[in-house]
Amino acid sequence: MQDLKQTLLKAYEFRHACKLFDESKKISDKDFEFVLETARLSPTSFGMEGVRLIVITNQELKAKLKPLCWNQNQIDSCSHLVVFKTKTKDLKPYSEWTKAKFAQRGLAQEAQDKYMQVYANFHKTLKSDDIYEWGTRQAYIMFSSMITSAALLGIDSCPIEGFEKENLEKTLEIDLSEEEISLVCTFGYRINPQPAKFRLSLDEMCEFKQ
Ligand SMILES: Cc1cc2nc3c(=O)[nH]c(=O)nc-3n(C[C@H](O)[C@H](O)[C@H](O)COP(=O)(O)O)c2cc1C
Repeated sequence: MQDLKQTLLKAYEFRHACKLFDESKKISDKDFEFVLETARLSPTSFGMEGVRLIVITNQELKAKLKPLCWNQNQIDSCSHLVVFKTKTKDLKPYSEWTKAKFAQRGLAQEAQDKYMQVYANFHKTLKSDDIYEWGTRQAYIMFSSMITSAALLGIDSCPIEGFEKENLEKTLEIDLSEEEISLVCTFGYRINPQPAKFRLSLDEMCEFKQ
């Protein structure tokens, strides 16, 4: 157990927002499949699985996307560029997708209808009823799993919120009636040493009520 704790903690310490990757080093298919598997197994609210990933290794495409991501060097130096999409249409209450997801549990129709009612009521309580924002939160959970599992394998990463959403969607020919881009994340191997980490102490971060 102690070993496991140390291994995991080391991975968290190893992970940092890598600003430039070594272009000569590529992540193996096997290792990236492991990283993707941890995204697949990540939880989603109501189990709705409303996130899809575009995994880009094509150098030409990466170079084309770089100016749309604030010209950040991670975009074209990384080995794997992942674009997360939120399935806005599917996530709507009473969509064919949500019906299928509730049916998947093998419950009686009446129970499925009840679940759907709860789901629809929940969506009414969302601030500004924004299905994109809610779906996008699920993408963040996935990406968090991915950067940690990557770090366990010695793979570096950098999340990218600095992108022009509309232009990226246009270039990647995203059908906006179905889905929208939620997040970008880059993976590869560092070329520069890791900078110092700045974090609050546990006492600053937490309020303990005992
Ligand atoms: C959701 C999210 C989006 C981010 N977007 C960017 C980005 O566009 N470009 C960048 O260089 N770093 C980005 N970062 C990295 C953060 O700046 C970085 O994680 C933070 O400064 C802490 O540093 P560390 O990750 O090295 O410990 C992002 C981080 C998160 C969590």
